[in-house]
Amino acid sequence: MEKNVYKVVLLPGDGIGPEVTEQAVRVLNAVSDVSNFSFEYENEFAGGAAIDRYGHPLPDDVLHKCQLADAVFLGAVGGEKWDHLTGDMRPESGLLKLRKGLSVFANLRPVAVPAVLAEASPLREETVKGTDMLVVRELTGGIYFGEPKGREGDDEAGEAFNTMRYSVEEVERVARVAFEWSRKRRKKVTSVDKANVLVVMQLWRDVVTRIHRDEYPDIELNHMYVDNATMQLVLNPRQFDVIVTGNMFGDIMSDTAATLGGSLGLLPSASVGGSVGLFEPVHGSAPDIAGQDKANPIAAILSAAMMLDHLGEQNAAAAVRKGVEEALASGARTGDLWRKGLNKVGTKEMGELICQQTLASLTNG
Ligand code: IPM
Ligand code: MN
Repeated sequence: MEKNVYKVVLLPGDGIGPEVTEQAVRVLNAVSDVSNFSFEYENEFAGGAAIDRYGHPLPDDVLHKCQLADAVFLGAVGGEKWDHLTGDMRPESGLLKLRKGLSVFANLRPVAVPAVLAEASPLREETVKGTDMLVVRELTGGIYFGEPKGREGDDEAGEAFNTMRYSVEEVERVARVAFEWSRKRRKKVTSVDKANVLVVMQLWRDVVTRIHRDEYPDIELNHMYVDNATMQLVLNPRQFDVIVTGNMFGDIMSDTAATLGGSLGLLPSASVGGSVGLFEPVHGSAPDIAGQDKANPIAAILSAAMMLDHLGEQNAAAAVRKGVEEALASGARTGDLWRKGLNKVGTKEMGELICQQTLASLTNG
């Protein structure tokens, strides 16, 4: 039988990016070996790695390759080495150019706290146990991209500015993504804004309200101001099903939500809405532990599972998720989640264990 071949551009990037990407690829290869699809990878550079190699954090050629792929997988970008750079030359700008260039306007960040991790949470076990939410972050608009922006003068006199703008269409399309996802979940959407202060967020609220009324009356919708919503995340995280919010609030809220499970190293993401999906762990490049086999590869591996889902390989995706669960249940933990009595493993060993458990789950059905 002909195998379905998916073309994936790998952008391992900086810091721990390459190490965690390696484990994600290992898991992808393990599942594809026993499935009727396979991957064709192209390795490219992004972020600081691309600055070193090409003199730009995301050259047009690299973006073009990504636009022609079936999916793009990114490790992490950024690091001290490039911190002196400004504006479009920063590693982070490469990532923003990639998101914009792929038109992936909806960033899906699922946060679930399985029972085995609830005790590792910095919050009380009974508060976080059973948390299961999806943060839908608008990704190609808002203050991250708004014009005008600029800096005038120096640090003794002058000013700098960014602009938060949203068009009706930008809010409509991300709201629809959130409502659609909530239909597959617990049918509840919380829209997070700052409509009490920002006129752009008044538009946000009006549009979300209208889309709900006209197209998704079966879904429960509530609105929260971002300050309260962030507090609610740590007070009572189980109240949330789907959260939809703008680019900057989503950035902040997803890191906050990620710590509920005890580590940022657990949180995957998928950026969708364009013709090519972008899959990346939410964590950064963690330069302090890079190259030491210490990083937690789970966020990257779960991002690979989201990629499998997006490509239509739901069985394989479910097996990878099961593989992660089983590896954690066996007591294996990387340093970020390790405590006395558990089995401390490195990045590679964690990847290997997840591969084994994934394959076991695939072959046992
Ligand atoms: C994230 C990151 C990025 C963002 C940075 C690296 C540009 O923090 O994906 O959350 O702010 O979007
Ligand atoms: Mn972030």
